[in-house]
Amino acid sequence: MFIQKNKYLKDNQVTDYSVYKKRRHFIKTMAGLGLIASTGGIIQPRSAHAVGRFSTNEKPTSFDDISSYCNYYEFGTAKSDPKRNAHSLVTSPWSVVVEGECERAGRYNLEDLLKPVSIEERNYRFRCVEGWSMVIPWMGFPLATLIKRMQPTSKAKYVYFETLLDSEHMPGQRTKVLDWPYTEGLRMDEAMNPLTLLATGIYGKDLLNQNGAPLRLVVPWKYGFKSIKSIAKIRFMAEQPVNSWQKANMTEYGFYSNVNPKVNHPRWSQRKERRIGEFRKRKTLLFNGYSEQVASLYKGMDLKKNF
Ligand code: MTE
Repeated sequence: MFIQKNKYLKDNQVTDYSVYKKRRHFIKTMAGLGLIASTGGIIQPRSAHAVGRFSTNEKPTSFDDISSYCNYYEFGTAKSDPKRNAHSLVTSPWSVVVEGECERAGRYNLEDLLKPVSIEERNYRFRCVEGWSMVIPWMGFPLATLIKRMQPTSKAKYVYFETLLDSEHMPGQRTKVLDWPYTEGLRMDEAMNPLTLLATGIYGKDLLNQNGAPLRLVVPWKYGFKSIKSIAKIRFMAEQPVNSWQKANMTEYGFYSNVNPKVNHPRWSQRKERRIGEFRKRKTLLFNGYSEQVASLYKGMDLKKNF
C-alpha cells in the first residue's frame, strides 16, 4: 500500500482518495434527491479551513474568480477563454504515461494512480508572472508520493511533464501560439519537496477543466506557469528539460522561475502583485513567502542567472 500520510497533518486533514470519492458520490446523490441544502454547487470538505503546516491562513480567492480568470492557452489566450472553451476537453477516461529513468515505467489509469494516495487540503498562494495573485484551496497529494512509487533510477535528476496533445478537443493546439504539447520541468529535489502538489481539486470539488482537470501540478514558490495542467506524461530525465515558455522566449522565461521580487521580467517589474479581489497592490515575497521551506534548495546559486 502507498498510503502516504503527511506527518504535519492530523488524520482529519487527510482523506484517502477512495473515501473522498465515496463521500462525494454520497453527497451528490443526497443533493440530487433534494436531501441536502444547496451549497451553491460547492461541496465543502470536512476540513475546508484546516490549516496544516503548509497552508496559509490568508483569505482564499473566490471560487468564481479562480474558475473564471484562467491561463490555459490550449483553450485561448484571453483569461476568460478557458472557462468558455474548456468544456470540450475529455477528462474521463484519463491515463498518464510514466517513462524515462525509473523502474515502474508504464501507462497508468488515473484511478489507479489515485487509489493509493491520500487527498489533502492546502491553501497556497499562487503568483502569476503578469503581476496578479490568488490564494487557492487546493485538494491534492504530494508529487513525491507518485515519484517514490515510480522508483526513479540514480540517473534521474529532473522530472518532465507534458499536457495532453489533442487538437481535436483543444482548439488552441490548432494555432501556433505555443509549441505543443505544453511542457514543464522540475529538478528532482524541487519535485520531491513536500510543498509540490499534484492537484485534483479546488474548494472540495474536482478540478474544473479550465483549472487543469483531472490532474495538474502546483508549485507554490514558482510563478504560475510552472503549474502545468491536464498532465498526460511524466518523464524522469538525466538532463534539464526545456519548458514551453522557454521555448517561446528564452530571454524572458527561465527553467527555475522562482517568485523573486528582485529579479524583474525583462519587460516589467516583479516587486508587487495585485491579489485578485483587492485593489491595493502588495509587496511580492521572495519564493512567494515559502522561503523557510525552499530557500535551502538554491543555496549558493545566483538567482539572477538562474531565473
Ligand atoms: N498548462 C497548460 N497546459 N497550458 C497553459 O497555457 N498556463 C500556465 C499554467 N499551466 C498553462 C498551463 C499559466 S501561464 C498559469 S498562470 C497557470 O497555469 C494558471 O492556472 P489557473 O488558470 O488555474 O489559475
